[in-house]
Amino acid sequence: MVAFKLPRNSKVTAGKTWNTPPAEGDWKAFHVYRWNQEDGRNPRLDTYWVDCKTCPPMILDALIKIKNEIDPTLTFRRSCREGICGSCAMNIDGTNTLACLKAIDDVRGPVRVYPLPSMPVVKDLVPDMTNFYAQLQSIQPWLQTTSATPPEERRQEIEERAKLDGLYECILCACCSTSCPSYWWNSDRYLGPAILLQAHRWLSDSRDEAKGERLDNLEDPFRLYRCHTILNCTKACPKGLNPAKAIAEIKKMMVERSV
Ligand code: SF4
Ligand code: SF4
Ligand code: FES
Repeated sequence: MVAFKLPRNSKVTAGKTWNTPPAEGDWKAFHVYRWNQEDGRNPRLDTYWVDCKTCPPMILDALIKIKNEIDPTLTFRRSCREGICGSCAMNIDGTNTLACLKAIDDVRGPVRVYPLPSMPVVKDLVPDMTNFYAQLQSIQPWLQTTSATPPEERRQEIEERAKLDGLYECILCACCSTSCPSYWWNSDRYLGPAILLQAHRWLSDSRDEAKGERLDNLEDPFRLYRCHTILNCTKACPKGLNPAKAIAEIKKMMVERSV
């Protein structure tokens, strides 16, 4: 039998229980991943009990309550609190999602909270997104033109603008990319569903004049073609977008320009 060795310090150990619930109240246990590279220890799963009667309804609310009232060292990202900024993406109850859009009541039993899978961790629930942002930069996500700038603005017909629906709403939370097995194994070379959806957004923009260069940039066995249509990405998107379809559309554009 093949023996797999986990990297040193990667095993998640049992952590500390920070409080115990009194008999009264509507208490729920939160098992939360903790890791601090500065203390040199393995990651651990700490337990916090939260009284849902005194907590607003979302998982992010519970994490904020834990940080404010129980453990100020718990580290996570959040900003808008309404599914717009993408910064509270994490793995909750085994699924990548936005903590501010996931209701506590939607999780039966204890709530397990981990950082997004496959990305390096900065601390606790904060993933290191350096590679993800470098990949975004590599597709040049801005309007590129060669024609003279019109005196007023570059206009679109209503039908042309409609082609951006289902693409412009992406908040770059990375829930999809970190659900994708191909991205787990090849994130150094495969762009992953989030970045490819962004690429498709610019390829679909009637005002953009760099379609050929954009497709050249993606024509690569890894950057685009590592998608094997497993569809985890589409299932994971908390905004209801369909990155797998966007990737299929890019592949279709590649075929169309080659005939
Ligand atoms: S469809 Fe492609 S991008 Fe989406 S999870 Fe599968 S392999 Fe990854
Ligand atoms: S496609 Fe959805 S899951 Fe992926 S980054 Fe955009 S909003 Fe997040
Ligand atoms: S806090 Fe902005 S998306 Fe959750």
